[in-house]
Amino acid sequence: MKTTASNAHSSQNSLVWSGNPHLINSKDLNKNDVLYLLRRAKFFKEQLLKIECGKIGRNEFTESVGTILAGRVAANLFYENSTRTRLSFELASKHLGMHVLNLDISKSSVQKGESLEDTGKTLAAMGVNVIVQRHSISGSCEKIAEATNHRVHVINAGEGTTEHPTQALLDLFTMLEVNPDEPELTGKKIVIVGDILHSRVASSNLILLPMFGAHICLVGPQHLLPKIANNNVEIHTNMDKAMVDADFVISVRPQFERQKEDTFGCVEEYINSYQINHERLKSAKKNVKVCAPGPINRDMEISNDAANDISLSLIERQVQNGVVIRMAVIETLCTAVKRK
Ligand code: CP
Repeated sequence: MKTTASNAHSSQNSLVWSGNPHLINSKDLNKNDVLYLLRRAKFFKEQLLKIECGKIGRNEFTESVGTILAGRVAANLFYENSTRTRLSFELASKHLGMHVLNLDISKSSVQKGESLEDTGKTLAAMGVNVIVQRHSISGSCEKIAEATNHRVHVINAGEGTTEHPTQALLDLFTMLEVNPDEPELTGKKIVIVGDILHSRVASSNLILLPMFGAHICLVGPQHLLPKIANNNVEIHTNMDKAMVDADFVISVRPQFERQKEDTFGCVEEYINSYQINHERLKSAKKNVKVCAPGPINRDMEISNDAANDISLSLIERQVQNGVVIRMAVIETLCTAVKRK
């Protein structure tokens, strides 16, 4: 039987989406939900790779995957800057056959004082099916979901310092790909380095990675570390101690835009103590891999050489996987949620 998008989907019947119409917080996902999304992302990745190696044509892809959400509408509302998240959501929606609206916040009625709630209601009235929102204030996605009376699927594309669920999903997906024979991250030591306190990526990773058995170690300057009491999480200020036997290292950039003035400290000292580079990685496992959500500041939190080392860096793979994870999320919310 020819594999189509719909029969591949129904072959996953043992996994059931819990029914949440939105993806706002990683903590709202149970393990089955995550597995469901990972399997769909894997399917989409296989389809895109088939195009790349000429096994299927673009027309065939468009006739199968490209019809899944044909005619539905996604709107991207980015109140904060973004390159990879915004573009990958746009690409993901287009691969699924959706119409995509990108609201330029700087030229929108937000500048005339329109509230978040009214912006949401306006888009819902136009028949928008999915709102992808990035905002500096935590709770903004919840607000827009309530304002639209849950008629629109809301996806959090990064909010305040609290959550960036699709980034954590793509990080998990990318790490699981490294050891394809191992379905979990059990026994893996994942070191997250940098400005953890202000990082929504770290917050979401702290929820999803331990769900798959990972042991997390946070390292950074004391004033950029959160206070966490959790047996699965170690906290260090000494990077050399933290790095011992690491399987994965995630670089989290200094989030200057979210720090109160002058709280970061001396950049030179930071580089000396916390930069990820080949020397620092010597005590990690031989096959250690480095991830970063991006954007990266080369030769600051990560050396240019480490970022470019294809035997070490998963950064471009993460970007590639961001598209298929976002396809999985959008498709799932639009098709697997049973409306009451
Ligand atoms: N990782 C991430 O959120 O990158 P952007 O800010 O470019 O979207």
